Amino acid sequence: MRSALVVPAAGRGDRLGLGRPKALVDLAGRPLLVHALERARASGVVDVVVVVAPPDGCEVVRSALAGLDLPDLRVVEGGRERQDSVRAGLVALPDDVDVVLVHDAARCLTPPGVFTAVVAAVRAGAVAVVPVLPVSDTVKRVAGDVVVETVDRRELAAVQTPQGFAPGPLLRAHEAAAGAAPATDDAGMLEALGHPVRTVPGDDLAFKVTRPLDLVLAEAVLAGGPVPARAAR
Ligand code: C5P
Repeated sequence: MRSALVVPAAGRGDRLGLGRPKALVDLAGRPLLVHALERARASGVVDVVVVVAPPDGCEVVRSALAGLDLPDLRVVEGGRERQDSVRAGLVALPDDVDVVLVHDAARCLTPPGVFTAVVAAVRAGAVAVVPVLPVSDTVKRVAGDVVVETVDRRELAAVQTPQGFAPGPLLRAHEAAAGAAPATDDAGMLEALGHPVRTVPGDDLAFKVTRPLDLVLAEAVLAGGPVPARAAR
């Protein structure tokens, strides 16, 4: 059986403010999407790649990825919300996959080891797997400009991608969620159906490029050589 990677890369990137789809924004001379796929390929655990391109962006994406030598690359057009884009990617999957990874193009520096750990956890029997990090900020629930309560951050985790799934439950969760309020991640849809979701350690480098400062950080990481390991928690 093969493992497949679905990469939603169809976001407009409004919060980045560069006037072009985020996945195609330049980072150290190459699009974010290319950085993300290089690291996924280096993991050695990805056999099929489905990239979900911005509307009218399939050809641009294909040519950006031409030099990457990806195994079994498929490019499809995305939808209005992230969830619609992931669903479009799932439809393009072949039948012979036993693991589906869903990975945001915007988490473009995610190290290969995170892909390996997620695939291993799914192959060990988990239906859904997410990489997580502890939350470092204090988190409060608010209503407008009023604090309602302080949430105990020791109970919280920040969730990254790639998230890994057994294909059948993931497809059924997407079908069940169609038409509902858009989910911000895929594991949440499986949780809603009562599936257990396992965690593996995430990585600081798997941060999501969302705002201009994230791009500065990503450039600095690429220019700066080795990154210190996370201290013990
Ligand atoms: O907007 P956000 O940063 O949460 O997007 C996460 C990922 O989902 C990005 O890689 C983005 O390109 C992708 N996305 C998509 N289709 C959309 C919206 C976002 O593929 N309609």
